[in-house]
Amino acid sequence: MKNKYLYIQTFGCQMNVHDSEQMAALLAQVGWKITDNLKLADLILLNTCSIREKAAHKVYSELGRIGKLKEQNPELIIGVGGCLAQHLGTKFHKKVRHLDFVFGTHNIHRLPQLVAAIRKKREKITQVDFHKSLNSIGVFAPPQSGAVSAFVTIMQGCNNFCAYCVVPYLRGPEMSRPPDDIIEEIRKLADCGIREVTLLGQNVNSYGKTLGNGLNFTALIKKIGKISGIERIRFTTSHPRDLSPELINCFAEEEKLCEHIHLPVQSGSNRILALMNRGYTVEEYMKKVDHLRKLSPQISITSDIIVGFPGETQNDYQETIDMMEKIRFDSIFSFKYSERKGTAAQKLEGRIEECEKLRRLQQLQALQDGHTLEANLALEGSQQELLVEGKSKNSENDLMGRTRSWKIVNFKSESELTDKRVKVKISKAYLHSLRGKIVDD
Ligand code: SAH
Ligand code: SF4
Ligand code: F3S
Repeated sequence: MKNKYLYIQTFGCQMNVHDSEQMAALLAQVGWKITDNLKLADLILLNTCSIREKAAHKVYSELGRIGKLKEQNPELIIGVGGCLAQHLGTKFHKKVRHLDFVFGTHNIHRLPQLVAAIRKKREKITQVDFHKSLNSIGVFAPPQSGAVSAFVTIMQGCNNFCAYCVVPYLRGPEMSRPPDDIIEEIRKLADCGIREVTLLGQNVNSYGKTLGNGLNFTALIKKIGKISGIERIRFTTSHPRDLSPELINCFAEEEKLCEHIHLPVQSGSNRILALMNRGYTVEEYMKKVDHLRKLSPQISITSDIIVGFPGETQNDYQETIDMMEKIRFDSIFSFKYSERKGTAAQKLEGRIEECEKLRRLQQLQALQDGHTLEANLALEGSQQELLVEGKSKNSENDLMGRTRSWKIVNFKSESELTDKRVKVKISKAYLHSLRGKIVDD
């Protein structure tokens, strides 16, 4: 056999990015080499997302482009995994004729067998059944050489059923990974040179509920804090309803836990939050923000907001704006509501026109840009600890690192500092990054 080149393209969230790393690791074990040259590939995998209509569209348009390659090379194998694959199942083959196999979110561990089966006998395959096991999230993905930061999946699925969201249907019920497996994986990562881990789950705050051994998320963080070699711990995503005082305290108590929390609020209107089935009020959310800032004054708070949820009046929208003015997030991801098949919100009345959603989104984003810049400007003159990740994207001569609060800092350095923690003084703030100068200790 001459070559076995694999090209993977990932859509969607960090969870999907990490799933792709796991796919690559599994296929590497049976001889596949990663390439970033699409034309060289013998196997192309698309790890898909369907969180919003636009995410699904991106996948279809990419598949159109890839289909042309198959006309030139009939031997080429094309597979689709991830959430859109889970959603469509066998229907994916009908929509896109040149697919060889479709595999769901619980079937990543089967990838080597699936590919081997296709190579033996060119028949279309679909595997989208859910499993009670955690096999698909327990795969060890060795970090790339020079990497300092790694993702670690600590749970699978989601039980929240927010009215707009497809994730619980596509990733299955919430299930926590046993702590010993997580610790072992992080030890191995530390041995490979990893200094920072980001713990992944749709709602990490409810970690442990399905284990039945009394160990919760805060206890897990404290265990991870004891692993030597690991200097920084992050996590995403937190559900505001389940953010406990104990976890808030952990920001003050656990030295390695970085001062950043992504805490999606979704709306500033209690009426809309109830329709979304989020399980908290704006007042409760703001109280938690106050508590976080009191115990961890440097904390950066980021969020997700949806505009144009069914029935969102001008008044509801204004309440979101008012909340943003009060909280002043460090940054947000904001989205136009996108109707998804099978979700509870699909049955709600009061659809908002696309152009009105866009108007609300643009206004909200302009407001947030002001808040983001304001938060960054407040850091000018301050000293920040960076974990250096490597060369800056802006300039060959600069290095780039992140603050504990997850902000990007570019700086000049004569020495090679990648994977080191250094202190810089912030000299200039921009909207998307900061500029710093090394401080000699
Ligand atoms: N589990 C995470 C988020 C998962 S999806 C959490 O609960 O926070 C990431 C973000 O996409 C959500 O926070 C939400 O803001 C947005 N989102 C999800 N479904 C959406 C939809 N149908 N339309 C628009 N935005 C959506
Ligand atoms: Fe979706 Fe809500 Fe679960 Fe997040 S918590 S994945 S928004 S259902
Ligand atoms: Fe998309 Fe699935 Fe993540 S729908 S956002 S890839 S959990």
